[in-house]
Amino acid sequence: MCGIVGYIGHRKATDVIIKGLQRLEYRGYDSAGVAIVNGKIRIEKQKGKVAQLVKVISANPMQGSSGIGHTRWATHGEPNDVNAHPHTGQKKKFALVHNGIIENYDAIRKNLESKGHVFESQTDTEVLAHLIEEIYEISDTDFITSVQLALNEVDGTFGIAVVNNDDPDTIIVARRGSPLLLGIGEGEHFIASDASPIIEYTNKVVYLDDDEMAIINRDSYEVRTIKNVTLNKAVHELEMSIEQIEKAGFPHFMLKEIYEQPDTIADCMRGRLVVSENRIQLGGIAHVLDRIVNADRIIIAACGTSWHAGLVGEYLFEYLAKKKVEVEYASEFRYQNPLIDEKDVMIVISQSGETADTLAAVREAKSKGALVLGICNVVGSTIARETDAGVYTHAGPEIGVASTKAFTAQVTVLSLMAIMIGQKNGALSEKKSAKLIKALNEIPEKVKAILEHADDIKKMSELFTYAPNFLYLGRSYNFPVALEGALKLKEISYIHAEGYPAAEMKHGPIALIDQHMPVVVIAATDHTNDKMISNIEEVRARKGRVIAIANENNSEVANLAEYTIRIPETHDCFTPLLTVIPLQLISYYIAVNRKCDVDQPRNLAKSVTVE
Ligand code: M6R
Repeated sequence: MCGIVGYIGHRKATDVIIKGLQRLEYRGYDSAGVAIVNGKIRIEKQKGKVAQLVKVISANPMQGSSGIGHTRWATHGEPNDVNAHPHTGQKKKFALVHNGIIENYDAIRKNLESKGHVFESQTDTEVLAHLIEEIYEISDTDFITSVQLALNEVDGTFGIAVVNNDDPDTIIVARRGSPLLLGIGEGEHFIASDASPIIEYTNKVVYLDDDEMAIINRDSYEVRTIKNVTLNKAVHELEMSIEQIEKAGFPHFMLKEIYEQPDTIADCMRGRLVVSENRIQLGGIAHVLDRIVNADRIIIAACGTSWHAGLVGEYLFEYLAKKKVEVEYASEFRYQNPLIDEKDVMIVISQSGETADTLAAVREAKSKGALVLGICNVVGSTIARETDAGVYTHAGPEIGVASTKAFTAQVTVLSLMAIMIGQKNGALSEKKSAKLIKALNEIPEKVKAILEHADDIKKMSELFTYAPNFLYLGRSYNFPVALEGALKLKEISYIHAEGYPAAEMKHGPIALIDQHMPVVVIAATDHTNDKMISNIEEVRARKGRVIAIANENNSEVANLAEYTIRIPETHDCFTPLLTVIPLQLISYYIAVNRKCDVDQPRNLAKSVTVE
């Protein structure tokens, strides 16, 4: 989704901003632009990739040490040069970049048009640039007040950065619902919608909260509320490193992130899985454990891949901790007039910690008195800060739009939580938890073993590169993995794929099966093995092509399937951490064969900050 970068200091602003925009490319976008203040504001913007913009700027370099930049993911108006940000006001005194949606833009635009304003683009953002300039010119107020007054008139969400020709040494940023942070350097300041453009210059950051703004100069900054109350904000230290956001020799971030999983799962368990004491230690939720244990219900809310992790969580919590769980799409939660109260616990799961729909579910549940816990990857993200307590996944930055290591880290955290609750409420005996803890501890090595066979998966994927459809089937813990496998394939290869609980096949999808339909059957849990074998037989009887994911010693499945990908044995409830790996690799190799843009698939955004 849209990205913002800004810089004021002693360096050449375009260098910092362009590099920053490249770091934000992973978020997904369709056009990019910069505004540099150097005597006069100069804007360059282009449809397409940042590389296009670089070509234009290289032909006519932009000098100046202050400016703002943007990658746009179209909401209002098609992706083209005119709709790209930055936008200016009528007299081109201000330039503004914006993430989010101004919901009442049409009314404001009509009002401004009646006063003679002429708009160039179809965007909601241009309206805000005009409004700030109108207030500045007509009411004769200063830069800060004009931005404040304009923001008080708009409904919707925004993360904005504004520069002003009359005040070239100041950048103003503000947020409501769209993340923004400020990087603090020596005689220089950086702004960005996430930390990736900032990390190579400084690890000191200030996170803006909703309805806050920062007035930024070279040597100083000040944070106020939009209503003009001065704030004393904490300076945080970023934990990420520059190496983590580079490809480290892999052709794509997605492949790098798939290969990181033995480490990310181990990192996620480090210090939390105390094998020698048969104990789980999750510091972030220890103080609310009693409330979780005594809760009437646990409601898990999330979107996309995180929702699939939540579904695995439902099986884990109900089996290991004997807790009643409901899993909701965060995007639908608030429309259900949800019956939730202080006796319930909500767990939200979000890699980015910025997903607007998930954040809305957090606010809804909190307003009704529920305890809300977060499982987030991005440290300091909005959801991590707004939830009552939580557990970080510690998977490190995930840059590929298709979530991979975030999923396995989320399932790992859910596994830890389920065991911890099960131990606390007596659902798990010492003996049973020892078995589970041992099994979980062995997962990173088992993931490594699967990755050693990536070449076989690559070869097999070549045979299915041009299949128009795929079906994924799983049962129990691996039903959500079937959904996740299908999502992974469709989002990066654009092949139509459906995931189903295997038993549902005969209630409809079986009509699709013929000799052209690859069916990925996840047959890796012992307790559903016989039933999965029946499903394979049913697919074969209709000439479907079965790709099975099965345990090492399952010769029965291997004899029936056209291809079998072996995974090491583990406890049934942790199989999702293994079965998902081949599915990630199948999607990756097929997408590469089809020459798709694996890391930045069309139309998708890494962090979905609009509802
Ligand atoms: O950052 P979040 O985990 O909240 O994101 C949720 C979804 O947008 C995300 O999982 C999306 O489905 C991914 N593209 C999946 O690969």
